[in-house]
Amino acid sequence: MDYFSWSSRLDLGDPRIDSQHAGIAATLNDLRDCGNGGSDRAGCRGVLGTLADRMAAHFATEEELFSVSGYPDADAHSEEHRKLLGELHRLRDEFDQNAPLGERVMQYMRVWITAHVLVFDKAYAAFARMRKG
Ligand SMILES: [Fe+2]
Ligand SMILES: [Fe+2]
Repeated sequence: MDYFSWSSRLDLGDPRIDSQHAGIAATLNDLRDCGNGGSDRAGCRGVLGTLADRMAAHFATEEELFSVSGYPDADAHSEEHRKLLGELHRLRDEFDQNAPLGERVMQYMRVWITAHVLVFDKAYAAFARMRKG
């Protein structure tokens, strides 16, 4: 079951970024199912690995765009990427020690969407649009 779907309010207008975000959202939904006991532990561990790979690849894409465009807030934004990846690695470590994922995953989703995509990523998208003119 989907706990959230990607909606137009989260679109940034860059097809590559938007499709990476949607892929991450889909993986987070898979992970939430794991938190509810919908999958075996090995399956959940695989989803955590997929999520970490997708997050890392996505952050690398954005940071490359920051560098190419001379984005002035690149450092603060990239620091948020490192925090999100660090938090994800903590979730994975806790899972390896048999902790349940449920509520922590929901909290992670909220932070990623509300704080990161809606604030940091939208700010970059506004800069990129302005730069294009
Ligand atoms: Fe970002
Ligand atoms: Fe992003």
